[in-house]
Amino acid sequence: MINILIASENATRLAQIVSLIGECGNYRTTRVAGRPSSLVERGDSLDAFDVLIVDASSLETAELPVVGKLCNRRPQVTSILLIPDASPQTLIEAMRAGFRDVLGWPLNKASLGEALSRIESQVALSGTHETQIVSFLSCKGGAGTSFIASNVAHAIADSQQKRVLLIDLNQLYGDAAFLITDERPPSTLPQVCAQVERMDAAFFDACLVHVSDTFHILAGAGDPIKASEIKEERLEWILGVAVPRYDLVIFDLGQSLNPLSILALDRSNQIHLVLQASMPHVRAGRRLQEILASLAYPPDRTRLLLNRYTRVGERARAALEEVLGMRPYQVIPEDTETVSESVNHGVPVAKLSRNSAVSRSLLALASNIVSLSAGSEEVRVKAEPRLSRFFGRSPAPKLKAM
Ligand SMILES: Nc1ncnc2c1ncn2[C@@H]1O[C@H](COP(=O)(O)OP(=O)(O)OP(=O)(O)O)[C@@H](O)[C@H]1O
Ligand SMILES: [Mg+2]
Repeated sequence: MINILIASENATRLAQIVSLIGECGNYRTTRVAGRPSSLVERGDSLDAFDVLIVDASSLETAELPVVGKLCNRRPQVTSILLIPDASPQTLIEAMRAGFRDVLGWPLNKASLGEALSRIESQVALSGTHETQIVSFLSCKGGAGTSFIASNVAHAIADSQQKRVLLIDLNQLYGDAAFLITDERPPSTLPQVCAQVERMDAAFFDACLVHVSDTFHILAGAGDPIKASEIKEERLEWILGVAVPRYDLVIFDLGQSLNPLSILALDRSNQIHLVLQASMPHVRAGRRLQEILASLAYPPDRTRLLLNRYTRVGERARAALEEVLGMRPYQVIPEDTETVSESVNHGVPVAKLSRNSAVSRSLLALASNIVSLSAGSEEVRVKAEPRLSRFFGRSPAPKLKAM
C-alpha cells in the first residue's frame, strides 16, 4: 500500500482529495494543512511517504523552488501537482521543479487513479513491505483491553520476530506501557503531538519506550485533560510517518469512540473487541457492534475476544454468541493470580509464566493475528468522511430487545 502525503491550504479540498483517493484504491493518506514550505522543518519524516500531492491555486502558492528541493533530496517520493490551470506552460514549469504529474482542478478521478496506480506499480517493483494495523477496543471499562493489547504486542515482537509499535490511544488514563515494562516513558502521545513540526526519525525514536529492539511503545496520555490536547491532524501525521517503519502497529483504544479512535479504526486491518462473559457486556457489546456497522466497518474485519472466562460464564457466553452472531476468536481464561502479578510488576505474562493457560491463549492470539495478516487482504479506506459517518448520516440499527 502506498503512503500518500497531501498538502493543501484549503481544508475542504483536502477532504475532497482524500475522499477521491479512497475511491481510487487502497491507499494510506496523511493530510497537512499548509503550503509545501510547512513541510521543510519536518526533516527526514518525509522519507516515510511514497507520494507527495501538492494542491495549489497557482504556481506561486505551489512553491516550486521548495518542492524542487524536497524532491531532490528524496528521489523515492513522487510528487503530483493539483492546480486549476493545468496548461502546457504550467506543466513545463512544474515538471522542471520536480513534479512527475500535473492534474487539473476539479480533480478527475480516472486521471488521479491512473497516476496513483502507476506509482503503486513502481513502488511494488522496489519491494516495499506492508504494515498491518490491529486495534483493540472494548465496550466497558476494565474488560482487559490494555492487558491483552500490550501482551499480544509483546508476544508478536518476541515470538513472531516482527517489528511492533504499540500506541496507547486510551482517552482516560493511558496505562498500557506500565503493564509490561517498568521503564518510564520518555514522552507521551499528547507531548509528541504538540511537537510534530519538529518530528524527525531521531526525535520520534527518542519519544518511545524501547521494550526491546523490535518492540516499542508510544505511551498514552496520563489523564483525560492531556488526552483532549491530541489533535486529529497531528495524530494523522504521526501515523503517516511511524506506521511504515513497523511490521505491525497495535492500538489500545480503550472504550472511546471519537474522531481519534475512528482515525485508528479506519486504518485497521483487524479490530478486536474485548468483552467478558456477563450480560452487561452482552448488551454493551451489541451496541458497539451496531455502532461499528453504522460506521461501515466490514464485519469480517471484526474479531471477538472473550476475556476472564470461567465456567461460571457459560450461559452468558451462549447469550453473547447468539446476540452478536459471532463466536469468540479467542477465549482468554481468568487467572487472577498470574495476571495480577504480571500487571503489578510490569512484566509480560509470557515472561512470568509461559505455560499458564492465560499466557498460552495470548500467544495463540498473537500467532493468529500474524498469520491472518500474512494472508489478509489490505484494508480499503472508506471514502466517506469519518465524522459524518460518526454523527449519523447512516443511523445505527435499532437495538434488539433482550
Ligand atoms: N484474563 C484475566 N484474568 C484475570 N485478571 C485479568 C485478566 N485480564 C485482565 N485482568 C485484570 O483486569 C484489570 C483490568 O485490565 P485492563 O487494565 O487491561 O482493562 P482495560 O479494559 O484496559 O481497562 P480500562 O477501561 O481502564 O482501560 C487488570 O488490572 C487485571 O488485573
Ligand atoms: Mg486500558
